[in-house]
Amino acid sequence: MLLEVRNLVKEFGGVVANADISLEIERGMTVGLIGPNGAGKTTLFNCIAGYYKPTGGKVFFGGKEITGWPAHQVAKIGIARTFQGMKIMPNLTVEENVMVGAFCRTRDRQIAKKKAQEILEGLNLVQEINIYPTELPIATQKRIELGRALATNPQLLMLDEIAAGLNPIETKEIIQVLKRMKEERDLTLFLTEHVMEFVMTISEVVTVMAAGRKIAEGPPKEVAKQERVIEAYLGKRYAKGQ
Ligand SMILES: Nc1ncnc2c1ncn2[C@@H]1O[C@H](COP(=O)(O)OP(=O)(O)OP(=O)(O)O)[C@@H](O)[C@H]1O
Ligand SMILES: [Mg+2]
Repeated sequence: MLLEVRNLVKEFGGVVANADISLEIERGMTVGLIGPNGAGKTTLFNCIAGYYKPTGGKVFFGGKEITGWPAHQVAKIGIARTFQGMKIMPNLTVEENVMVGAFCRTRDRQIAKKKAQEILEGLNLVQEINIYPTELPIATQKRIELGRALATNPQLLMLDEIAAGLNPIETKEIIQVLKRMKEERDLTLFLTEHVMEFVMTISEVVTVMAAGRKIAEGPPKEVAKQERVIEAYLGKRYAKGQ
């Protein structure tokens, strides 16, 4: 098992954002995490990736306990993530933004630069290398964010709403990029998404959260039929189309 989350709890004051979440992700899988706004998806990502310390429960990566490890250490062991709100640095060029990820593995600027160039080539961003990201379209910024995560050489890549704000064509493109990167780099993917056409087509397993709890898990087609998933999130219209 690559990732194992056991009875994870995260509370903010009185708010229980994650209540007793357990899940396992096998190496090489693509797992989707869905659920309504405020369900606790980003909080779970933050607890796994070391941005929040869980209130309770445990996280294992490759069999090793990593509960409460700081983000930089979690990155070093092989977990990368992109951010829902994007964390691109506006005063760094595209190349420098991706180098930030590469510095997870090296202190050598030349090595980091080479790594960034290799990643940017794979993402079709060679033309943009010296541009400041805020001048670029949102879909390109998302790819830069992805590039920064990939530059850390992850085994597990967690994507928090990478398709949010993209049009259907851009969404299809990012799906293709992710599939290619997964193959080329032997990645395991864990992604949250509200764009159902995306998450339900790319994921082999879907986990559903609502109000801090895990309410369902399984292959997308089976999960989409479950009454409590329809009620909590998908609505009748999506279920009928399946
Ligand atoms: N840093 C924080 N401080 C206090 N409360 C927080 C914090 N982060 C998240 N929460 C609360 O935890 C709950 C879950 O939020 P979270 O962002 O994890 O949901 P989400 O499933 O990612 O939602 P969305 O689909 O809108 O991104 C919400 O009630 C939110 O207000
Ligand atoms: Mg979120």
